[in-house]
Amino acid sequence: MEIINIKDTSNKLYYVGGVVRDELLGIESFDIDMTYEGNAIEFVQQKLQGIEDFEIVQVNEPFGTVRVKVSGREIDIASTREEVYEKKGHLPSVTRIGCSLKEDSMRRDFTVNALYKSAVSGEIIDLTGGLDDLKNKTIRVLHDESFIDDPTRILRGLKFSIRFGFDLDEHTKKLQENYLKNINYDMCYKRVKKELIETFNLNSQAAFEKFIKQNIYKLVTEKDVILPKEDIEELIKEYPVENVWLVYAGCIGDLSRLPLTKIEQKILDDFNAIGELKNDFEIYKAFEKVSTETILLYLILKNKFAAKRYLETLSKIKIEITGEDLLKLGLKPSRKFSEIFDYVLVKKLENPELSKEDEINIVRGII
Ligand code: CTP
Repeated sequence: MEIINIKDTSNKLYYVGGVVRDELLGIESFDIDMTYEGNAIEFVQQKLQGIEDFEIVQVNEPFGTVRVKVSGREIDIASTREEVYEKKGHLPSVTRIGCSLKEDSMRRDFTVNALYKSAVSGEIIDLTGGLDDLKNKTIRVLHDESFIDDPTRILRGLKFSIRFGFDLDEHTKKLQENYLKNINYDMCYKRVKKELIETFNLNSQAAFEKFIKQNIYKLVTEKDVILPKEDIEELIKEYPVENVWLVYAGCIGDLSRLPLTKIEQKILDDFNAIGELKNDFEIYKAFEKVSTETILLYLILKNKFAAKRYLETLSKIKIEITGEDLLKLGLKPSRKFSEIFDYVLVKKLENPELSKEDEINIVRGII
């Protein structure tokens, strides 16, 4: 993990959070977070600027953080800081920059994410019992207000428990249950969405079952949700999709609180627009132009048979005849074209073996 090769004689620069946790677990970490016990911006400007292959990418004064690039790798260096959640569920404000490591650790989510590793000596600093919790595979908050301050930590707890096979400690579980019985819905849903994406992109049925059974979904909607019968993890392995998280999250039904992209909203709107499907032609027309995410949601929540019929069989059938062929038959371009294609499609769904020649003959038969 030794990325910054500097002579920090003050020994106040540390790796912190996920990167320390992951190294101790023996897994690779992609994001590197560091903290400076003091003012990180001043430290970077005075001590690091000018060293080889180093540049400052971005400075965030109010938060006392600075993003730097060292040997092509971006790293966030934060000042040790204290924070207060004036508006619960939203970004905190910084009340002091340059506090002690102990005070800095208390603003974090879980003990396993509050471990520091000296960038100079490599010594691990554990001020909250994080090492024991790592050993015992336990996720533990640092204080009783943790979920009230930042409810996204409930999702982070779920994400880490699935990613590492950890469990919430009993007291943390109680605090979570209490919070979920009395949710303050005025929270930052952009952050909720980010955690939902990271959690469900793990494609884990176990995560989804905990999400529903432990009422974590209540963070997103006040409506009741029951666990669907389908194993979503298996379905996605069989039918890969780009927006894995949305197949899971879509099962909640009401995502109106989340800031969705146009593509994500379309996936849900398409799903909501598809009603009962009575025959192969209706199934084909309903699914032909929608994403696999939409089809999987339909499979899970509405009609498994119809969606499977499309995915396994009908999606492989395509009519071969084109507009050009119709022109060659002497037809003038008009809305009739699509009626003709649909007519040929009905025949082709009845008999997928039809050749292009057969299709042309079918058209000849009706004009
Ligand atoms: N953190 C927090 N509360 C949050 C988000 C982050 O206390 N809601 C703190 C934790 O100490 C965390 C660190 O900020 O370790 C960095 O956050 P982030 O990069 O989101 O998480 P990582 O722990 O690095 O995990 P990942 O491997 O998923 O990046």
